[in-house]
Amino acid sequence: MEYPIECKLPYPAIFDSHAHLDDKAFDEDRETLIEEMKNSGVAGIITCGCDIESSKRALSLAHKYDFIYAAVGIHPEEIQKGDSLDEIEVLAQDKKCVAIGEIGLDYYYDKEHKKLQKEIFSSQIDLAKKLHLPIIVHDREAHEDTLIILKDKKPKGVLHCFSGSVEMAKEVLKLGMYLGVGGVITFKNARKLPEVVKIIPDDKLLIETDCPYLAPVPYRGKVCFSGMIPLTAKKIAEIRETDTESILQLTKENATRLFNI
Ligand code: NI
Repeated sequence: MEYPIECKLPYPAIFDSHAHLDDKAFDEDRETLIEEMKNSGVAGIITCGCDIESSKRALSLAHKYDFIYAAVGIHPEEIQKGDSLDEIEVLAQDKKCVAIGEIGLDYYYDKEHKKLQKEIFSSQIDLAKKLHLPIIVHDREAHEDTLIILKDKKPKGVLHCFSGSVEMAKEVLKLGMYLGVGGVITFKNARKLPEVVKIIPDDKLLIETDCPYLAPVPYRGKVCFSGMIPLTAKKIAEIRETDTESILQLTKENATRLFNI
């Protein structure tokens, strides 16, 4: 995998709050890439599970590398498998598990099982609260129901790859939750996201990749990895009229606070 030269600068602190390092896109050179990232300023990565198996893989990566942490959970696209939440509860008690995720609602891929999605999302929030862990929320074309559940349950956590309106962002922020911003902010069709990025308070902004997906411009469509975060930070810094280093610094501080690292 090509490591972009502009991402090899020794940035002081890069914390990727949302990755899928267990994805098969990394099978060929996962270890080399992780070492390279570590040597290029990546100070922390949260790799998220989507079902039992990927949650286990996330944990094993977290055990292998100091700077990698895991989130365990069942993604809305994976609920049909019937994976057991009891097993998620066992995995969540691992000392390298820092969150329940990625969990949430996805009405883009699955409009048929909204009720089941909501039930599993709610149960996993209850589990996170029981274990005093934050949640990592996936919300795709399900803004209204996501907000209803979050307002009802009031968990700690982050809406990852936030795609809602400024109004929704304000509602989520009122609940004390964080907003995750990734490579989409560098896309020409980022739509309402720049307006959202302007209003997120310094202490509620997280930066992320969702790698291997959503590589920032000029690598859009390629396999993404946490080392590309400076490109996303640069765009966020332009919008917020600050510098890339400050965005990297404050997003690292926010991630370590939220995930208690
Ligand atoms: Ni994800």
